[in-house]
Amino acid sequence: MSQNDPVVNPLDRRSALAGAGVAAAALTLAAACGSDDSTSRGTSSAAATSSGAPTAAPLTSTSDVPVGGGVIVGDTVVTQPAAGAFSGFSTTCTHVGCKVNKVVNGLIECPCHGSTFNLDGTVAHGPATRPLESHPVKVQDGNIVRA
Ligand code: FES
Repeated sequence: MSQNDPVVNPLDRRSALAGAGVAAAALTLAAACGSDDSTSRGTSSAAATSSGAPTAAPLTSTSDVPVGGGVIVGDTVVTQPAAGAFSGFSTTCTHVGCKVNKVVNGLIECPCHGSTFNLDGTVAHGPATRPLESHPVKVQDGNIVRA
């Protein structure tokens, strides 16, 4: 029975080597995750402490928004259903979240499944059933800004 001992010893060495590899990989992952967390926390804290001026950056000029139409600026649709009456809405379609991408013939269009919205954000044609989320805007010195 003493001849079985050399067979057992190589298996133990393999097991030990495999265990060491797994432990090294786990330490590497833990170190990588730890450094990412501290970096992102530091970055977001610095961004949150930036000085806040009371004036908002303009989304667009009032002259760029056609009466009876609208324009898409970033994540906001700015419409002017009647002269001098401006509204803002999220570009996220309320159907399943695509971005509306056009304002044509008085309708805000979603390219994904054909929903259209009126210039007041209400549904003109489904499959969406809920209005676009409001992004309040106001006129400031001839520009449209977030309210
Ligand atoms: S996500 Fe806009 S119509 Fe489907």
